[in-house]
Parts: sequence; structure tokens; C-alpha cells
Amino acid sequence: MQPKIKIAASILAANPVRLEDEIKKVEMAGVDLIHIDVMDGHFVPNITVGPFIVEGIKHITKVPLDIHLMIEHPERYVKTFAEAAGKGDLITFHIEATKKPEEVISLIRGTGLKVGVSMNPDTSTEIVENLLDMVDMVLVMSVNPGFAGQKFISKVLPKIAKLRSVAPGKMDIEVDGGITIENISQVVQQGANVIVAASAIFKTSDPFSAIKNLRQMAEEVNRKE
Ligand code: DX5
Ligand code: ZN
Repeated sequence: MQPKIKIAASILAANPVRLEDEIKKVEMAGVDLIHIDVMDGHFVPNITVGPFIVEGIKHITKVPLDIHLMIEHPERYVKTFAEAAGKGDLITFHIEATKKPEEVISLIRGTGLKVGVSMNPDTSTEIVENLLDMVDMVLVMSVNPGFAGQKFISKVLPKIAKLRSVAPGKMDIEVDGGITIENISQVVQQGANVIVAASAIFKTSDPFSAIKNLRQMAEEVNRKE
């Protein structure tokens, strides 16, 4: 039996000028996390939001925030993002973006927030395995980070299975990128339990049903195991 399924709605595909309405919609659908993609134009070829927006979002929702930092030198910024967010929220940094992962982890821990470590599709799991005891979540990217609406890279499936086999207890394993109703079962079968979706939620005519269907499909896999 895998840990509880959590659905994280990535606001990257939401309507940016109607963000509050979009967040309320997914909140009403019972989404478990609001996934915020922070991009700096260096680590990834795109620029999105900073702590100011995170703070604004914090004021309009009670759903825990899942802050995905795709930025160079996360050690310089985690404190500011933690101050914008709050207890119960989670900050994930990329292992490729820092030479000091232990320092980043302890900086985030020091703020009282939860910690996640993420890896790109081409990064091997070995590089994060020695950190698993120190974090709450590991995030396996299933697209090259930077944009919503990309195609799922299926070669990451064995990485999820490997991490599930070495991760302590009921650790959260998140998958992010290209998730659809067609492939969600596969990632859950390999051991992922936190599922990020942007396009599969916000680019549909009915985000409420999209969340319900994604959850149902994922929980179905867990029930069979
Ligand atoms: C990509 C971001 C993802 C993205 C997912 O760099 O980290 O969270 O929003 O978008 P979809 O679900 O459309 O692939
Ligand atoms: Zn993300």
C-alpha cells in the first residue's frame, strides 16, 4: 500500500489574471496542494513568479503550498520564500541548481517548512539517495522543467520505482510534467503518490471533474495493490 495520493494543481497553466478564481476552483475540487512553479530564467529558460506572488496566494487559500523552485543558488532565496509562505507548506529545490544541498535543506528546515528535493529527467537517482533521510519529499521531473504542456518522458518511470524501493517508509514521491488521465496510473504503479498537473487541470473545460478523475484513477491503482 502506497502513501496517500495527493493531487497538486500547478498554477502554471491557470489564467494568470484570474488567479484567485482559478485557485478557488481547484480548492473546491478538494485539491491537496497548490503547486507554484518559480523560474528564474537561468536554471530554466522561462521566468514566472517570485515571493511576492507566493505571499499573495498564501492570503487567498488554506490549501498547503507546494513551492517548486527552478532557480540557481536556491540557498540565497529559500528564506524569503519561506517567509512568504508558512507552516505546513513545502519548498522543493533542484539538486542540479546547487553545490550545497545539505545547506539548502537545513535552511528550509530552519524556517519550519517541509523540504523537497527535485531532479531533472536526465539526472540519476543516486545523486539524491543520500539525502532522502533529510527531506520530506523527492520530486521526479517527467519533463525538462520550464513550461507546462510538454509531453511526459516515460524513461523516468524506473527512477520512480528505484526511489520508492530505497525511500524511507511512507515518504512522498512527487511526479511533475506531462501527467494526464492516460498516464497517471503508470506513475502511481511505480510508486509515486504526489501527482502534479497543470494542463490536465486548468486547460480543460471542467477542472473540478479533471481533479476528481485524476484522483480516482490514481487511487484505483493503490486499491489494487
Ligand atoms: C514544469 C513545471 C510543471 C508544469 C507542469 O517545469 O515544473 O509543474 O507546470 O505542467 P503540465 O502538467 O502541463 O505538464
Ligand atoms: Zn513544477
